[in-house]
Amino acid sequence: MRSWMLEHGSMWPMSLKTVVILLTLMVRNVSGSFVGINVGTDISKPPSASDIVSILKEKKIQHVRLLDSDHQMLTALANTGIEVMVGVPNDQLLRVGQSRSTAADWINKNVAAYIPATNITYIAVGNEVLTTVPNAALVLIPALQFLQSALLAANLNTQVKISSPHSTDMISKPFPPSTATFNSTWSSIMSQYLQFLNNTGSSFMLNAQPYYDYVKGQGVFPLEYALFRSLNPDSQISDPNTNLFYSNMFDAMVDATYSSMQAMNFSGIPVMVTASGWPWNGGQNEKAANVDNALAYNTNLIRHVLNNSGTPSQPNNQVSTYIFELFNEDLRSGPVSEKNWGIMFPNATTVYSITFEDMATANIDSPALRGTFCVANSSAPHSALKQSLDWACGPGSANCSAIQPGKPCYKSDDIVAVASYAFNDYYHRTQASGGTCNFNSTAIVTSTDPSHGSCIFAGSTGSNGSSGGAASGPVSQDNFATQIQSCLLIHLIGTLVLILVFL
Ligand SMILES: *[C@@H]1O[C@H](CO)[C@@H](O)[C@H](O)[C@H]1NC(C)=O
Ligand SMILES: *[C@@H]1O[C@H](CO)[C@@H](O)[C@H](O)[C@H]1NC(C)=O
Ligand SMILES: *[C@@H]1O[C@H](CO)[C@@H](O)[C@H](O)[C@H]1NC(C)=O
Ligand SMILES: *[C@@H]1O[C@H](CO)[C@@H](O)[C@H](O)[C@H]1NC(C)=O
Ligand SMILES: *[C@@H]1O[C@H](CO)[C@@H](O)[C@H](O)[C@H]1NC(C)=O
Ligand SMILES: *[C@@H]1O[C@H](CO)[C@@H](O)[C@H](O)[C@H]1NC(C)=O
Ligand SMILES: *[C@@H]1O[C@H](CO)[C@@H](O)[C@H](O)[C@H]1NC(C)=O
Ligand SMILES: *[C@@H]1O[C@H](CO)[C@@H](O)[C@H](O)[C@H]1NC(C)=O
Ligand SMILES: *[C@@H]1O[C@H](CO)[C@@H](O)[C@H](O)[C@H]1NC(C)=O
Ligand SMILES: *[C@@H]1O[C@H](CO)[C@@H](O)[C@H](O)[C@H]1NC(C)=O
Repeated sequence: MRSWMLEHGSMWPMSLKTVVILLTLMVRNVSGSFVGINVGTDISKPPSASDIVSILKEKKIQHVRLLDSDHQMLTALANTGIEVMVGVPNDQLLRVGQSRSTAADWINKNVAAYIPATNITYIAVGNEVLTTVPNAALVLIPALQFLQSALLAANLNTQVKISSPHSTDMISKPFPPSTATFNSTWSSIMSQYLQFLNNTGSSFMLNAQPYYDYVKGQGVFPLEYALFRSLNPDSQISDPNTNLFYSNMFDAMVDATYSSMQAMNFSGIPVMVTASGWPWNGGQNEKAANVDNALAYNTNLIRHVLNNSGTPSQPNNQVSTYIFELFNEDLRSGPVSEKNWGIMFPNATTVYSITFEDMATANIDSPALRGTFCVANSSAPHSALKQSLDWACGPGSANCSAIQPGKPCYKSDDIVAVASYAFNDYYHRTQASGGTCNFNSTAIVTSTDPSHGSCIFAGSTGSNGSSGGAASGPVSQDNFATQIQSCLLIHLIGTLVLILVFL
């Protein structure tokens, strides 16, 4: 049973789309989980391989999943340090799974020929085979085995791991996560698949798309739960068997996968999410596919993954994730939304900007900006300031703790002062990596120090000789501090927004 105690219509920052010019950084977190990105192929005018690689480099993306094994891409990715997952497309699966020599040939032409210059580390064999091309199900395990033998023969079995991405539709009863099981129709194949992963030290590949479950649920799932926005602890969903709380659908999907494996007596196989994202545009009847939701989902997903907090049932197992996807794929079939999952158009124009870096760890004590402040334009409409403030404390990842009730910079009746604090914190954190003081033209740069009393703005030289105090003091690189800060943000923003609503 689902236990819902949900707060409907709860407020959460609306997202600004155009504010941040800050280009994206995809980083591997210290303790191991990373965020990568999918690059699809169903594009009528695809960018050249070298353009794609330039974009990846510019955004500091370190992990890429190719849906195929395009040779121009593999060549362009050589000597970039980027880790590459290649794919055996479903339409090549039959041949690879029916012939050992075809499989060996595939490894030679698409993997061995490019290593070591191109750092291929994973092969995704087929995509959602059991749920989308069930007639190919019987060749899935042979394909995995033939490819593995070929890797072994080429002495590449430690460098490259093989697996096959599954849809969450493979899990017949996903809730509660603790009692989830795979669809028993596929028991035999799943058992062999898991045995293969266990034997080869590979990961379970999961395509986890809360968007589809949210839409299919037709209101059963609150949007906040899908978008990692469950503010109120009372509105989280609890698993009655374990008493674990789920604040987001993504974690529930991953835990349902762990439990389904456990039900087949496999434990210790890591889950890797090979695709997760949100469409930014859809047809008339696809209201949830919009830029605000896409920006929120991807921003929160990245923050969640890089936070290294695992899932409720597996707090120590980090779930690396490939965002779906870099480019819109105009040739994909299906509803309008299917063509609009990209964070960029194929002409390299950005659809919406997201910041992949864990901002809480960015150093805000930049000497170059000492004595420079980014503050709210007091003539800007308050509604616009509020929108920008929500963005700064939400997707912008400014440290907004000091403007919470009871904190030094809190002013219940002064949105200009509160927004100034948040804008300035954001600016000082991100300026070095391209962040701007703009906020949809609601912010301006000044040299007048807005600090007052114990409310110290980043960049303050201190009227009495202090060099910044709390707000611009040394930022802890300690992961634990970062985690606490992210945690605070999630809960505090809600309070703040509720207060500001009444201004
Ligand atoms: C930016 O400001 C303009 C005019 O003030 C407003 O119409 C627009 O909605 C704002 N953009 C965003 C993304 O908030
Ligand atoms: C390839 O990626 C792996 C995994 O991160 C790393 O250990 C290895 O050093 C990389 N190899 C090259 C040649 O960059
Ligand atoms: C299990 O898979 C079979 C075959 O694809 C499908 O017909 C059936 O509806 C699935 N069962 C559930 C509960 O999803
Ligand atoms: C999985 O592998 C581990 C160690 O590699 C082994 O101890 C365990 O028995 C294996 N599990 C199954 C179900 O084969
Ligand atoms: C898992 O192990 C238990 C206990 O050994 C056994 O009873 C059960 O049949 C096994 N389940 C599967 C799917 O192999
Ligand atoms: C970050 O991790 C901490 C504990 O490790 C957790 O309490 C917090 O909810 C996590 N934050 C996010 C955004 O996942
Ligand atoms: C890029 O493509 C998008 C969507 O087709 C279009 O709106 C935009 O104007 C294009 N930008 C450039 C610079 O061509
Ligand atoms: C401040 O906002 C007002 C009203 O939106 C605008 O007219 C003015 O140009 C802005 N000032 C600056 C310096 O951007
Ligand atoms: C956020 O700001 C507060 C003070 O306002 C400070 O105590 C805390 O350490 C800051 N967090 C980070 C991660 O900088
Ligand atoms: C200046 O000093 C006073 C008391 O000595 C202190 O309360 C205040 O926070 C300081 N202000 C700044 C901006 O450092």
